[in-house]
Parts: sequence; structure tokens; C-alpha cells
Amino acid sequence: MKTGIKIISVMLISAITSVEAISQQKSLNIIPKPAKAVIEKGEFRLTKRSVIVTSSDDPEFNNIVRPIQEYLQNICNKSPLTLKRSGKPSRGSIFLKLNSESGIQKEGYKLSVMKKGVVIEASDFAGLFYGVQSLLQMIPVGDYGESAIKITCATIEDSPRFGWRGLHLDVCRHFMPKEFVLKYIDYMSMYKFNTFHFHLTDDQGWRIEMEKYPDLVNIGSVRSETRIGKSDKFDGTEHRGYFTKEEIREIVKYAAERYITVVPEIEMPGHASAALTSYPELGCTGGPYKVQTKWGVFDEVFCAGKESTFKFLQDVIDEVIELFPSKFIHIGGDECPKSSWKSCPLCQQRIKDEGLSDEHQLQSWFVTRMEKYINEKGRKIIGWDEILEGGLAPNAAVMSWRGVAGGIEAAKAGHYVVMSPGTHCYFDHYQADAASQPLAIGGFTPLEKVYGYEPVPEELTSEESKYIMGAQANVWTEYILSPEHVEYMVYPRAAALSEVVWTPNEGREYSDFKRRVTTHTELYKKIGINYCKSEFEK
Ligand code: ACM
Ligand code: ZN
Repeated sequence: MKTGIKIISVMLISAITSVEAISQQKSLNIIPKPAKAVIEKGEFRLTKRSVIVTSSDDPEFNNIVRPIQEYLQNICNKSPLTLKRSGKPSRGSIFLKLNSESGIQKEGYKLSVMKKGVVIEASDFAGLFYGVQSLLQMIPVGDYGESAIKITCATIEDSPRFGWRGLHLDVCRHFMPKEFVLKYIDYMSMYKFNTFHFHLTDDQGWRIEMEKYPDLVNIGSVRSETRIGKSDKFDGTEHRGYFTKEEIREIVKYAAERYITVVPEIEMPGHASAALTSYPELGCTGGPYKVQTKWGVFDEVFCAGKESTFKFLQDVIDEVIELFPSKFIHIGGDECPKSSWKSCPLCQQRIKDEGLSDEHQLQSWFVTRMEKYINEKGRKIIGWDEILEGGLAPNAAVMSWRGVAGGIEAAKAGHYVVMSPGTHCYFDHYQADAASQPLAIGGFTPLEKVYGYEPVPEELTSEESKYIMGAQANVWTEYILSPEHVEYMVYPRAAALSEVVWTPNEGREYSDFKRRVTTHTELYKKIGINYCKSEFEK
């Protein structure tokens, strides 16, 4: 009798184990987790006879086909598949169907992996692109050579929770070469991010060529040396770098081919030391100024009293708009000390002439004037939450970084918001015990904290919540000196954020994400993403 029970329980345990093993093996491991996914019986076999078929001969299908071919070649060690443009699905094919009548939400897709073939359907190309990203993540990482790739049959219906799914990169504190920026954008697209916030100007370097103002890069992109870590020492080594217009065009095009909008940030009125060093007449005192060699907030800002400041900034914006097709232009607006305006006769005269009550209102007047110019060019401004102080410009969107209060205030006032609070979205913060990590600016934002972020604050009504466009993580590079170090700070945390901004809340669960992201480390190794391993060594 006893033996019988034992046998039955052993059988039960082994049955449970094998069911678990199958479901583990069969789990789709897609990040961000799709809104709806059902695993079906069987497998699709991708062989050298498989073909890619597109529903029309629109050349934009190149953007959708390219990642499949590149993944097969570079990650799976397989030859590219034959491409049939404008055909019908055939046995064993991957069929890419653009159907504007499908009723599928913008950027959404339907993916059916069947034994007989794969169909991805969407009403826009971005949706097809995201369907492909999901399909590729369903391929177990491996070197396939001549063997067939087996993909678990499944039906997925997916679309994003938010329209702004962003990652930022500061190339001012430490310059990052174009090749890395392209790589950064490519990795973003794997996790369905759609907005790259390119922080191009700051106190420690101006990083974008401007035709009308050549000294911005001749002078402003070079600093004489850099503070070493948090010490009192400097490295005695010149740090320089900027993007030519040609390079910017290449980055914008590369991003667009991956359905990513590049939002440029041109800082004003503060964080202006590099610009003022190049053109000292734009500051209150006329200088001399220097491209800063240490970090922080500096008193030298654009003079709000001089007309020449606005002529300069408008000219810069003209060239920026010509390069970046984004709806939003980021005008910075953060951390602008008011001391130089307080002692500047021209700034004080401006306050009087415009009937303003103080320097905060002067900042608001400054931003509103620039907003008017940018709006006339058909674009909108977004700025850090300090632009709320002294009154928000009429059409401005707000990026909430000093916590969420600024985002809440802006949304309640009917302004669009991107949430990027330092508590959860600053990837320059530590992600594990500081003693085990390279020097970082501070903070503590481990993977689970990022994953647990909810971009819509409880304080908002459902009507007000509509103003939350989404969220983004910021990567400031004061203490991040190289591309490898950027990757280390961003991965795997970007995977967690991608799910915050894409997946419906009810489908999110950390332990499940943790299991999936652990499988993604195989991919990171294969592609060569330098990720932080702390979370996987526990
Ligand atoms: C910021 O971190 N200063 C926006
Ligand atoms: Zn002034």
C-alpha cells in the first residue's frame, strides 16, 4: 500500500515536472510581453526552402525584411531567405501583410505562427516591424547552420500601451561615436522603443554642427580636460567630438528605418557654457566663458535681455528642424540659475518691459517666445519640468524628471507629459550594490524597481491620464565614459522599461519577466551587448 502511494506520488511529481519542463520550453520569452499570446500545438520549421512574401511591392517592406535576414545571418548562422515581393502566402513562408483595413491599432500587429507558415499582419509598417521583432525573439538563440529553426506555434495579438516609449542618451558629458549611436538605436528597436531623445548640447560640449555658427563645434565641442570621477583631480586630456550634419542625417534615417523618432535636445536658457564659450556675446556679461571640465549646474546662461540671443537660437532651431523631422523639439529648460539675470541690466529691463514679476517669469517668457517660433514652424516643444515654473508655455509638453509632481501638474492643466522620474527612470543610477559596481552618479535603481514603475500617477483622473504620452529612461554620461559602459547601464534595465511602456498592466509580473530576461542574456552574449550581470548571479 505504502509503496503504491509512493509510486503514484513519484508519477505525479514526474508528471508535474514534465508539464513544467514543456511549458518552460514552450514559453515564448518575448520582451516586452505581448498583450495577448496563446501557445498552439506544433512547430513551424524555418528551412532554406522557406521564403519571405510581402503583400505588395512597396519598397518600405525593406525595413521589415532586413531585420529577418540580418538575424538569420548574424545570430542564427543561416543564409538569407528568398524574398518574393507582392505575392500570396505559400507553404513554409513568412507572409508580411500590410492591411490598413485590418482594424489593428497603430503600431500593433497580429502574428500567427502555424505549422504551415507564419503570417504577420498590421495596419502600418511599424506594426509589421514589431511583429517581426516578436517572431525573432521566439527563435531560441543558437548556431543553426544547415538545421531547421523550430519556432513554437502561437497566435499573438499585440499593441502598445503608450505612444512615447523612449530612451535618452547624453553625448555631451562624454561623446559617443556615430557607430555606437546607431547600435544603441538598433538595440532599442528590438524592445519596441520608438523615441530616441538625443541630448546634443550642454555645458561640457556642443555636439552638433551648425552651418551659421561654425564655432559651436570649432570651439564648443572641445573641453581642455575632465574631472576624474568624484575626485579633485583632472585628467589633463582634451575631450572632443561632434556630429556633422551628414552624420545626423544618417542617424535620423537609420532610426526611421527602425520606426524610431529622434527627438533632439538643444538646451536653453541654461546648460549653455559650451555655446557661450563659442559666442560670448550671447551671455549677460560677455564672458570670457569656458567649456566646463566638471559636472553640475553653472551660473552662465543665455542672456534673456539681448535680441541677439533669440536671433541665434532661432537660427539654430531652423537648422535643427531641417535635420530632425520629429514633432517635438526638446528645449531643455532644466537647472537654469537666475543669478546672472538678476545682475544683468538688459535682463532686468526685459522684466520691466514685459511686465514680469521675477526671473522665473522671465524664464517662462523666454521659453514661450521660443515655443511661438517653433510652433510657427509646425513643431511642438517639450522641456524638463522646470518649464512649469513661472508659468507653462501654452502648447508645451513636459518631461517630468524631478519625481512625478511636474508631470501631474502639467497633465491636470491639459499638457502632454512624458514621465521620466529620477526614482525609476535614471539609468545613470546604480543598479546593484555600489561596492560591486563601477562608479555611478548615485541613486539605486535595480531591475525590479524599473519593472515596477507605473507611468500613470494615481492622482490623475482617467481623463487627465490621457495626457501621459508614456515614459523614458535617461542616460547621463558624467560617470559613463565609453559605449561599453553605456550598454552596461542600459541592459537589462531597458528590457524592464520596455514592458512598462508596452505591456498592459494586468499582464505584467516580475518573476515571469525575470525568467524571460534571463533567456535574453543569451542573445546579449551573441550580439555583443555588454550587460550588467548582477541580477543573474543571485
Ligand atoms: C536633468 O536630469 N537635469 C533633466
Ligand atoms: Zn542678461
